[in-house]
Amino acid sequence: MSVTPIGDSRRKITVSSLQEKKLQHQPITCLTAYDYPSARLVDEADIDIVLVGDSLAMTMLGYSDTLSVTVEEMLHHTRAVRRGVKQALLVADMPYGSYHVGADEAVRNATRFMKEAGSEAVKIEGGEKRADLIRRVIDAEISVAGHIGLTPQSVNVMGGYKVQGKSLAAIEQLMRDAVALDRAGVAFLVLEGIPREVAAMITAEVSTPTIGIGAGPECDGQVLVFHDILNLSFASPAKFVRRYGDAAALIHDAVQAFRQDVTSHQYPLDSESYHLSKETRQALETLLERKRGMRR
Ligand code: KIV
Repeated sequence: MSVTPIGDSRRKITVSSLQEKKLQHQPITCLTAYDYPSARLVDEADIDIVLVGDSLAMTMLGYSDTLSVTVEEMLHHTRAVRRGVKQALLVADMPYGSYHVGADEAVRNATRFMKEAGSEAVKIEGGEKRADLIRRVIDAEISVAGHIGLTPQSVNVMGGYKVQGKSLAAIEQLMRDAVALDRAGVAFLVLEGIPREVAAMITAEVSTPTIGIGAGPECDGQVLVFHDILNLSFASPAKFVRRYGDAAALIHDAVQAFRQDVTSHQYPLDSESYHLSKETRQALETLLERKRGMRR
């Protein structure tokens, strides 16, 4: 059975496509998207994975970290992204608190992302200590992406957004984390904020594809935040962020130009206005003329 919709010649990305890409050494691309327009733009650019990251807490909702965003808010954004994504694999982040109480709660919340928002996988932060819980979610027929290294939901425990895996003990723990999640059967593994050398070792060790963010070029793929590559984050970028466009400047200039045109009576022009038909205009003029005559 073909999964390619009629009229769309592009290939639907699945968890197995990511595996194939790893085996064939074809880099995997992933970007975040949080709403319908960004989802369409990313999907239509042939990006493999669209991630509704809990980074939306900061980029879209203005929170200072990712901890406050709720399951309901994540579902709301995932539904909008679902409507814009046809080809890419759609993955939603499980927010802080949605899987920390226990496996039953994790399965219940993960199920909501699949049933209520059309997500094709969920992402859960944490390594070895989450392996059993992730197995439980996978047993419920839900694909899970892992996320280790700098895990933003652990910001308070880590004492800030710091590069992880810098000591021998930390490297050993990261390797154990990666292997445990690989054995649990994760669909792919996000490696965030770790030295290039460590990410390369993990990538060579595990059979699941690794997707790096601030983890160097040896990962099987790369992910960045949509708002970071477009200068829409209102923050100084991390070392690994490359800006591919300046949407802030574009929007600023467009908004200023609109304000200028309105205040100087340059907008709207006659060509940007609706008009009455000739007959209605003539009838209206006759009516107004008659009224003026009655007043005289
Ligand atoms: O929330 C997010 O955007 C993420 C990616 C940066 C990996 O988790």
